[in-house]
Amino acid sequence: MSQTKIFAHRGFSSQFPENTMIAFQTALEVGVDGIEFDVQLSKDHVPVIIHDHTLDRTSTGSGVVGHYSLQELKQFSAGSWFHEQFKEEQIPTLEEIFLWATNNALQLNVELKGYVWERQKLISIVFPLIKKYGLQNRVIVSSFDHKVIHLWNKQFPTIETGIIVKAALHNPKLYVQQIATLGYHFYYMSLTTEEAEQLINSGIRLRPYTVNDKNWIRTFVNLKCEAIITDYPDLALSLR
Ligand code: G3P
Ligand code: CA
Repeated sequence: MSQTKIFAHRGFSSQFPENTMIAFQTALEVGVDGIEFDVQLSKDHVPVIIHDHTLDRTSTGSGVVGHYSLQELKQFSAGSWFHEQFKEEQIPTLEEIFLWATNNALQLNVELKGYVWERQKLISIVFPLIKKYGLQNRVIVSSFDHKVIHLWNKQFPTIETGIIVKAALHNPKLYVQQIATLGYHFYYMSLTTEEAEQLINSGIRLRPYTVNDKNWIRTFVNLKCEAIITDYPDLALSLR
């Protein structure tokens, strides 16, 4: 089995404003294998990269992301909340990341946020973009909303997917089979080492999040998890 991959959570988010192009570019430059980022729709149905449903924490905007058109969202700084030096950073679009990714070989963990009533719309907008940029073999589509992953798998079974799980599940192996997914993206303290080993031996791709502690990073590397999702990709790479 190949070595555990290191995915930068929302880009290199411990050092740069999360979910911005500078956070993705610097993650690439430190040598990560992949990046993770959050996707939701603007008012005019453009997939944009921002974690919260509201703008307030990570931009100069205020209120619900989906209440603004792309043009309006682009007026806000997505970096000044982190540090004034990043004030020119904008909220990226999914297409901007995909275009940028055509110049590198990173894996792209696309986390679908959005609302449950927008599931099919999100799928119908995101898939053509993956296809347009020829990224079918480089994306992993994940979500806390397992129904959107189930729907995705029925429509595009050749694209890799994963469910995101916060708490322990009774029978994770059976559950992932029911969703028809391969990836189990779990809160890093929600599985025991024994459970993790069993799942790995069953062929499930474990990607714990958000692993920022060096002892935990070592644990998941030793277990040979498929990937570690971390805010500290530099630390994780140095420990691998
Ligand atoms: O994809 C794993 C992780 O990003 C899920 O949690 O809240 O950071 O999106 P959150
Ligand atoms: Ca995320």
